[in-house]
Amino acid sequence: MELCFATNNEHKLDEVSTALGNAFILRTLHDIGCTDELPETTGTIAGNSRQKARYIWQHFGIPCFADDSGLEIDALNNEPGVDSAHYSGTRDHGKNIQKVLTNLLGQSNRNAQFVSVFTLIMPDPSGEPVEHQFTGIFPGQITNAPRGTDGFGYDPVFLPNGYPRTLAEMSMAEKNAISHRAQALKKMVDFLSA
Ligand code: IMP
Repeated sequence: MELCFATNNEHKLDEVSTALGNAFILRTLHDIGCTDELPETTGTIAGNSRQKARYIWQHFGIPCFADDSGLEIDALNNEPGVDSAHYSGTRDHGKNIQKVLTNLLGQSNRNAQFVSVFTLIMPDPSGEPVEHQFTGIFPGQITNAPRGTDGFGYDPVFLPNGYPRTLAEMSMAEKNAISHRAQALKKMVDFLSA
């Protein structure tokens, strides 16, 4: 069966195609001829994930899934959350990290979590779309200063609970075994393989 992943991000594509194996023919936005900017206007991570999957179903009519993710920090009322990619008003990871650290100055509660939501849309036997959501939660602490050079986004300031190193000090394989995205993806793959 063909399944479209609403992304053109090569790294995410690799991760998902490895997890899905040969059971599905994975298509990207590029493969299905979608050059549109997918809407992300709901104000929540779960809502944006659903909105992107619905867009593909409505405009292209094929089984599909989309993901959305972000960092929620307890002491900042779950900010940056859905605004994680452009928290500082830019997409610059260094500036986004700096804004988080500045907002947390003097704050002893450093609890945070990464959240990932996959939304899958498959047709039922009569062709009507059925939606399923799969969520991964990855708890940790925000460090006082960036550590490590690997990864992307907030990885240098995110210390997963129970680990001595930030995500930017881990190998990609190590991170991909425990991350929010890996957890949500595993739930979706288990559902699809059942
Ligand atoms: P998206 O779901 O790929 O659009 O991710 C939204 C934003 O959340 C990214 O631009 C990052 O700032 C942040 N983010 C999501 N997942 C991660 C992660 O695994 N490490 C670091 N930052 C992340």
